[in-house]
Amino acid sequence: MRHKLILRVTILFMLAFTLSKFIFASTIKNNSDNMINVFNQGGRTEWKAPPFADKMKNPLASDLKVTKDAKIVFTTNCSSCHGDKGEGNGPAAAALNPKPKNLTSEKVQEQSDGAIFWKITTGNPPMVSWKDALTEKQRWGLVNYIRQLKKK
Ligand code: HEC
Repeated sequence: MRHKLILRVTILFMLAFTLSKFIFASTIKNNSDNMINVFNQGGRTEWKAPPFADKMKNPLASDLKVTKDAKIVFTTNCSSCHGDKGEGNGPAAAALNPKPKNLTSEKVQEQSDGAIFWKITTGNPPMVSWKDALTEKQRWGLVNYIRQLKKK
């Protein structure tokens, strides 16, 4: 009698387990698809700054003096990947997936100061976040520097 009860409970658990696998299978699949997207350049969704970033005001917008300091900050921290002229062809670029962006390109330049600042601040692997390594002023300075990299 007792034996039978244990058997029934075991079978019930096994049934529940199998069923739950079916129920969650679709969720698990979606998650793993997202993971693949994150690591695969082809399927990776474009990196977009959130709308609130566009509303951030560049406190150094008209300060041309800062670009001189920013050049040093850029050469020290960004050139290895983005290249000296920001064209995305630094020595470390070849090994990266996705590739560092060409910062002089239309696609980058058409974004707002706030969006570019947000991306520098947040990072997106393999680009690290510069939130702690650089001050806010240095990051806005880089935005100005990137602006003047734009091809004439
Ligand atoms: C380790 C290499 C590496 C370094 C160092 C690096 N980046 Fe990047 N950066 C990348 C990669 C790779 C991307 C593309 C990420 C993506 O598209 O998801 C990127 C993207 C960007 C973007 C966004 C471009 C777009 O798609 O709109 C900006 C802006 C940027 N980097 C600026 C900087 C600045 C400024 C520095 C220095 C403080 C820096 N990066 C340092 C690798 C790097």
